[in-house]
Amino acid sequence: MSAVERPIGMFDSGFGGLTVARALIDLLPGEDLVYIGDTGRYPYGPRPADEVRRFAEELARSLVDEHGAKVVIVACNTAAAAGLDELRATMPVPILDVIAPGAEALVRATATGRAGVIGTVGTVASGAYRAAVASTGAPVQLTTAACPGFVEFVERGQTEGDEVTVLAERLLAPVREADIDALLLGCTHYPFLARTIGEVMGAGVTLVSSADETAFAAQRILGELGLLRAPSRAGDAARRGEHRFLSSGDVDVFRQLGARLLGPELDHTEPWSPGA
Ligand code: DGL
Repeated sequence: MSAVERPIGMFDSGFGGLTVARALIDLLPGEDLVYIGDTGRYPYGPRPADEVRRFAEELARSLVDEHGAKVVIVACNTAAAAGLDELRATMPVPILDVIAPGAEALVRATATGRAGVIGTVGTVASGAYRAAVASTGAPVQLTTAACPGFVEFVERGQTEGDEVTVLAERLLAPVREADIDALLLGCTHYPFLARTIGEVMGAGVTLVSSADETAFAAQRILGELGLLRAPSRAGDAARRGEHRFLSSGDVDVFRQLGARLLGPELDHTEPWSPGA
């Protein structure tokens, strides 16, 4: 198999990265994708950073060594915030993540210069978004808030309802009080809660998700490296990529809930275990 024909690898602690997978499949429908959801070990948010870094290395190695990934997309803010420098230095393929594309999109979205980021405890505590927004050079006053509990709702398939609203009202209070006009969903699970988050924040706040931006970044980097599959020419039968989904947790749960969250491409889930 030529380098161009190898799949794009992607992982998250669970279902959240499916928001990035959806954007990638829509943007690059001819590319093959291998996605691993580490639902057996989620949530990553409360775990120590060195443990999350070890998980990220296992997942990235599996995608490259066992599945021949030509690039690995870390579709998990918590894993990216724990630090990817060592992984980048040791892996033979580019390692992309969601933080820089998300920060750039947030800076573009705010008109008042007052913006917010919400994420897991690990992501917010790392300061990774403060650093990423600062490195854009834009004069943005950033307010951040951790939202423990949001990921668990998504992993249970509960994406709206009174309980979600009550928790959102409590956790989003700091960003509401900061009078922001743009809020980055700095956890790939959160777009599944966008309706509730949007209602709680109010119509004057633009919600920004890093999913589309990350897909565009992947397209650009693969293009620069000459690793992008050529788009089908007009008149050719369009190639549909193969999409494989693996989970370290219950594969039936992953297939059922995953299909609801991602769409019909997720019709089958294979088991994955660390070091297998
Ligand atoms: N979806 C992940 C993120 O973007 C992690 C959620 C978790 O496992 O805590 O941060």
